[in-house]
Amino acid sequence: MVPGFRFVKFNDVEDLKSQFNEKVCALIVEPIQGEGGIHACSPEFLTAARQLCDQYQALLIFDEIQCGIGRTGRYFYFQKFDIKPDVLTLAKPIGLGLPLGALLTTDRVAPTFGPGDHGTTFGGGPLACRVGFEFLKILQEDHLLKQIATTGDFFKERLLGLKSKYPFVLDVRGEGLILGMELSFPGREVVNRCLEAGFIINCTADKVLRFLPPYIITKKEISKFIKALDKILSEVNLATQEVDSVSQPVGGSH
Ligand SMILES: Cc1ncc(COP(=O)(O)O)c(C=O)c1O
Repeated sequence: MVPGFRFVKFNDVEDLKSQFNEKVCALIVEPIQGEGGIHACSPEFLTAARQLCDQYQALLIFDEIQCGIGRTGRYFYFQKFDIKPDVLTLAKPIGLGLPLGALLTTDRVAPTFGPGDHGTTFGGGPLACRVGFEFLKILQEDHLLKQIATTGDFFKERLLGLKSKYPFVLDVRGEGLILGMELSFPGREVVNRCLEAGFIINCTADKVLRFLPPYIITKKEISKFIKALDKILSEVNLATQEVDSVSQPVGGSH
């Protein structure tokens, strides 16, 4: 662990309160944990985080690198709540594949930073920034946020359909186009089979299939994927049952 850093138990308001004091300078929260397996912070946890940061004059930093800038059908995920961070980090989609990140702050925090205070070799290059502007324009002019919310709902509904079909699908969670499907076994095999079928998906936290498709994905493409995933899950299910029946003791059990 980095010296000076401490972790709080996920969504545990009491743990957060017990660790907070006047020495805390900032609290970093990823409001929907992406790598962690698509887990959303509860409104109670986020409210307590804001209140404690105000009380102890610490900065509340939201890391929306994965869940922000359109991913949930809003510009920023925190807009779902009546809570504002002091600092917000953004990246992934804004550069449309080029390396670009952004740090947004409130008027109160902004003057603490000046030009040249924080530089990197490739940070804020003119090409990546131009592409970033175009991305923001497309997001606004093509009404992409609304589209993301609609296709996201459609996608989640279809994943929930698979959950009701396969008992080993333990959970489907997330919103917009950041969705996860938790399995009762490691998801690597499903990921590999999806790739063979022409679909790139990911698995995080060992058992959570993670779906972060491009914002322009269509319902037709989602349906095609769901059909392929359905077939793959049924095959995996069959293989699991075969292993189970082989490992059953002959003569029954007591
Ligand atoms: C939520 C979140 N924060 C931070 C990072 C790290 O970003 P970088 O690779 O630019 O260090 C990632 C990368 O996946 C991420 O998903």
